[in-house]
Amino acid sequence: MSISISENRKRFHLTDGATFSRVLAVIPDEDARLNVEELYFGPALPENAADVLEDTRQKMFSNAVPNDVTMRGAAFYLCPTAGNGDVRPAALQVQEPDGTWSTELSYEGYALLPGKPKLEGLPAAYAEQVDEAETLELLFRDRKTGLEVKLYQCVMNAYHALTSWMVVENGGDEKLVLQRCMSATVHLSGNWDMLHLHGAWAKERQVERIPNMHGTRAIGSVRGASSHQHNPFVAMMEPGADEHQGRVLGVNLVYSGSFLMEADQNEHDLTRLVAGIAPCAWTLEPDGSFTTPETVMVWSEQGLNGMSQIFHKLYRERLCRGVWRDRLRPVLCNNWEGTYFDFDEERILAIARTAAELGVELFVLDDGWFGQRNDDTTSLGDWQVNRDKLPNGIAGLSEKLHQMGLMFGLWVEPEMISPVSKLYEEHPDWCLHAPARSRTLQRHQLILDLTRRDVQDWMIDTITGVLREGSVDYVKWDMNRNFAQIGSALLQPAQQSETPHRYMLGLYRVMEAVTSALPDVLFEACASGGGRFDPGILYYMPQVWTSDDTDAVERLNIQYGTSMAYPISSMGAHVSAVPNHQVGRVTSMRFRGDVALGGNMGYELDLSRQSEADKAEIRRQVEQVKQLRRITQRGRFTRLQSPFDNRIAAWQFALEDDSEILVCLFQRYTAANPPQIYVRVRDIDESALYRDQFGREYSGAVLSKQGLRSPFGWQPEKQDQESLVLHLTRI
Ligand code: DGJ
Repeated sequence: MSISISENRKRFHLTDGATFSRVLAVIPDEDARLNVEELYFGPALPENAADVLEDTRQKMFSNAVPNDVTMRGAAFYLCPTAGNGDVRPAALQVQEPDGTWSTELSYEGYALLPGKPKLEGLPAAYAEQVDEAETLELLFRDRKTGLEVKLYQCVMNAYHALTSWMVVENGGDEKLVLQRCMSATVHLSGNWDMLHLHGAWAKERQVERIPNMHGTRAIGSVRGASSHQHNPFVAMMEPGADEHQGRVLGVNLVYSGSFLMEADQNEHDLTRLVAGIAPCAWTLEPDGSFTTPETVMVWSEQGLNGMSQIFHKLYRERLCRGVWRDRLRPVLCNNWEGTYFDFDEERILAIARTAAELGVELFVLDDGWFGQRNDDTTSLGDWQVNRDKLPNGIAGLSEKLHQMGLMFGLWVEPEMISPVSKLYEEHPDWCLHAPARSRTLQRHQLILDLTRRDVQDWMIDTITGVLREGSVDYVKWDMNRNFAQIGSALLQPAQQSETPHRYMLGLYRVMEAVTSALPDVLFEACASGGGRFDPGILYYMPQVWTSDDTDAVERLNIQYGTSMAYPISSMGAHVSAVPNHQVGRVTSMRFRGDVALGGNMGYELDLSRQSEADKAEIRRQVEQVKQLRRITQRGRFTRLQSPFDNRIAAWQFALEDDSEILVCLFQRYTAANPPQIYVRVRDIDESALYRDQFGREYSGAVLSKQGLRSPFGWQPEKQDQESLVLHLTRI
């Protein structure tokens, strides 16, 4: 049992029995309503601990008058509402017909649900067997308005995660407006640093740790996508915690649109964290209901790596779906950086032929194959092949690639429309826009209005048709701009503020329809690189293009940061040409390959124009990936040394039983007279001996306790970047 209930003290103990416990209590509020508060969230407790836990807040105000609003400043409400004197970030703010917003929730009861219920129209982690999860449904009502709140806490015991979401229903007779409706609320006492992933285009998921502070630390997006700038992930860390030890609470929102995460530390050193969609004023008609996205929470006593390993396994096995969830991912070649828009069938076939010779398994045709798309100014929406470039059509090209033994992949950007396109001529009102306002372009394009059912249906039919006709095996689903003039031609004035979330619901409907119509196709999401890399997307597409920055040195940081929450099998990582197109840096083919091994490996350069030496190295790399991907894509990943703080960065992969370990070391830049550096190998069988691919033997205990000595010496004639992938097999 993951959820135990003590009826006499009205307490709920939620635990996976291994990593975390959360204890909730039904407590009379100052005005004699029953409310639910959190008494404990931390490492797992024995079952009998819940009943004897103290009520935290009563202690704080020994001289406070009962029924005093001051008390609320220290309450750990599970669903804090705005407007009642609790001035910290709220989970729920509801405007009533009289214009005020002072919702008073009364706890009314609970239900215990086996397994994990689905979230209507939204991505979410799932249980395959009923004993993998158990869910607590807590019911609250606001007596004045009839608002009913069902708050769900799901213990995914088999995957060591706790997830949280709400379903809000209007049980009254008048309209209500949800001004804020968050997915999860968590409270922590004492000091907590906040680690998050910020970034920019070509600089995604940089790791930043904000020390403990009083006040509100907030991250979020109002861009219509989870964004390059902030990821819907935070890790709350004890100040002494690091990659390998200490307490960490990881929080990740399963959503791909605008979001908000706020951590507020008040005068009592109590931190409240709320996570959910960006507040947007959503009208709830009588009988109407609103489901929030899900938030996943993970507790680790083994630092950030402990947290990441739980996220990785959960997302690999119980968020990603379809046949590709469990298949090893193919090595691909994508023509984007090799040709950009400048290609025809002959050039594509030349690259593909070399790719096949070198052992590559999948060829991906990127942007530029349709309409008049010879640059990025036109044709999005006109998904008919450009016969000047591809006289035999997509189907003809696909057939030739299949004959070479390659899978065939195709780029699409379904959510967009170019003002210079036939589609725009026919349907100028199909884009998001505000009446009598300019339609601001980004990358020369507008966004299709996915709040509309007719646009969704057109997209499902058109994209499915193109992919079927081309016998496509893989899709790169791109999205290259942010929202502006966020309105829809069909929504009523009061609903316009709902557009961002309605867009996401429409997008999820389209993604569900297209991916289930083509169950054998491998989908990779993309948003100008990694502008929409989140758990919501992974539910539909098990891979994401990590970044448009393919420079191997910068990729160390981007992949390292991304791995905080997301598994290696979700990250696209490509070897590209040098000098690198984003930063101009020249790195060796070996270094580029070793970095790309830390993701789903691909090549993004004109393979037909590489030197014989580089081709030989690529052949070796492809062979190596095929041998090692069962470890890199399925093994346990551990970050060893951060590229953000160290000249030598390192990470490792291990099979579940530690019988094989890959240690990957990267010297970012060389140094004169360098210090001796040992990198400790983690989670290794200390009683065993291991042998590397060169036949050298190592003691597991020495690798763990002393570490692996950095092999990079002082060699003035060498280039800056060097790398080593050591494949250790238990003897
Ligand atoms: C942005 C993507 O991130 C690139 O990889 C490439 O597909 C271009 N779009 C094509 O326009």
